[in-house]
Amino acid sequence: MAEHARLICRSDELPESGKGIRFQVERYGRPVPAFVVRYAGQVYAYINECKHVPVEMDWMPGEFFDISHNYLVCATHGAYYSPATGLCLGGPCKGRSLTVLSVTEIDGQVYLNEQEIR
Ligand code: FES
Repeated sequence: MAEHARLICRSDELPESGKGIRFQVERYGRPVPAFVVRYAGQVYAYINECKHVPVEMDWMPGEFFDISHNYLVCATHGAYYSPATGLCLGGPCKGRSLTVLSVTEIDGQVYLNEQEIR
């Protein structure tokens, strides 16, 4: 495992298009909220901050998917994002993207690649 890989959770803690795992990353010298979800079999992680107004997105802790389970949705004004790219597909910040974090799934564990945080 790479030196800067940090264990976030077990793979079986991330159900397909279901509840995500919240965690924190250090960015510009301060802790900021982040999350990881599983979608179409892959894991994806983002800074937990909507691109419309800088608020956390989950409508309940760890609940990021909309009712269709096809999009990540912001609880405040309903912007919806692609789970696979973080691109806002509809809502007040359409065309902008969530901040992507690099995660890797190996041997039943999900790791954050910390050296790639920007
Ligand atoms: S704060 Fe997320 S859509 Fe407005």
